[in-house]
Amino acid sequence: MRTLIRNAMCVLPTGTRKADVLIQDSKILGIDPPAGATVDETIDAEGLHLIPGVIDDHVHFRDPGLTHKEDLHSGSVACAAGGVTTFLEMPNTIPPTTTQEILNAKLDIAASKSLVNYGFYIAASTENLHELKNATRTPGIKIFIGSSTGNLLVDDQDALEAIFSETSLPITAHCEDEATVRANQARIAAAGYQGHSDHSQIRNHEAARIATARAVDLARRHNHRFHVVHVSTAEEIALFADHGNLLTAEACPHHLFFNVDDYERLGSRVQMNPAVKTKADNQALLKALLDGQIQVVATDHAPHTLAEKDQPYPQSPSGLPAVENSLALMLDQVHQGNCSLEQVVSWMCDAPARVWDIVSKGRITEGYDADLVLIDLNRKVTIRNANQKTKCGWSPWDGTTLTGWPVRTFVMGRTVFADGEFDFDHRGMEVVFEHDRGGYWKSAGPVARDVT
Ligand code: DOR
Ligand code: ZN
Repeated sequence: MRTLIRNAMCVLPTGTRKADVLIQDSKILGIDPPAGATVDETIDAEGLHLIPGVIDDHVHFRDPGLTHKEDLHSGSVACAAGGVTTFLEMPNTIPPTTTQEILNAKLDIAASKSLVNYGFYIAASTENLHELKNATRTPGIKIFIGSSTGNLLVDDQDALEAIFSETSLPITAHCEDEATVRANQARIAAAGYQGHSDHSQIRNHEAARIATARAVDLARRHNHRFHVVHVSTAEEIALFADHGNLLTAEACPHHLFFNVDDYERLGSRVQMNPAVKTKADNQALLKALLDGQIQVVATDHAPHTLAEKDQPYPQSPSGLPAVENSLALMLDQVHQGNCSLEQVVSWMCDAPARVWDIVSKGRITEGYDADLVLIDLNRKVTIRNANQKTKCGWSPWDGTTLTGWPVRTFVMGRTVFADGEFDFDHRGMEVVFEHDRGGYWKSAGPVARDVT
């Protein structure tokens, strides 16, 4: 099967220009193929931009265990609608992904029901070092250095030293200092909870800074690849900046666009871990992305039902859905003049592939997988809870109008989403990692592309 996408403005590694892209089966066969090449389907994309599919390397899809919130089918449909062609899913499912056997079972579930491509992290527990040392078919190891949703806390220094010294997969961690969080919680509980905004006083700046500093110290002493997820404070940035590819970092849309002022309007809908901080932190995160100190934008998509969220604090669970709106949120930043389209592509498509050693994804390049998204930079849509594809059925951005939306999503050469319609029969593929092919992270190319 050959498909020719004609006349789109293509965001290529060498720059953005009008080009024709020829797809054969699941691969990009060539850019600007010779005239007269035989094709089965021609798509005229005049007026649209073509970008690599978004790789959301931080989602929680709840399958198995809590599939009333989300499952690998509903989550993948939301991905397709949002221009996300690959997700990497976190291990705090039930059971938690602490063994190769459990991980392989998740890969099987995804193969049976995910529309888009998929991969799964393995979780550190206090007793699975052997599994972590031998794990395959995974982007890397997730450690909950601070506790969050689930029961995966690894706080003991000796256990952490062993993981960083004895394993070779890249590591990421949830960084909020457990002792600080518990002390804040005890103090605030004793005074009486006031509402959801208590969350930001419990999971405060200090909690994030202490835990991120601790993880960065481990990574540096053991010379171990480490990715700092959901950076929420300005103070954390200095801790990991300028360490080449040893340390990379992620910002999430909710930490870029929400802050403590939003509790009044949105209550528990903006309750997540790490908690939202201040407007100054929002601005520092965007600046760090623009400066290349943070390389990745990913969602931390963490669905809970509204019935669960609507409970009073602290019964309300932490987390919010975002996977189908993250690309549009960032394209709207392009529309507002706050960043370039090339930067968005670097943060959401290219850098996640480099961080996790993903083979043949994240760029529009000959021989790479045909995971592609056509976007309309002028399309204006108002986000509505009723239109969300995530099973939890709501968005913290309900009522927000954004300019710039994905209109067609290709996964491995096949259209899975176009003009509001899905190909529900399509199945994505398991992501392949360089580290399973004998390549170790040190051989990976630069994470941040030089884009302006
Ligand atoms: O707010 C959050 N929700 N943060 C996490 O770290 C986990 C997530 C979840 O799984 O609900
Ligand atoms: Zn998370």
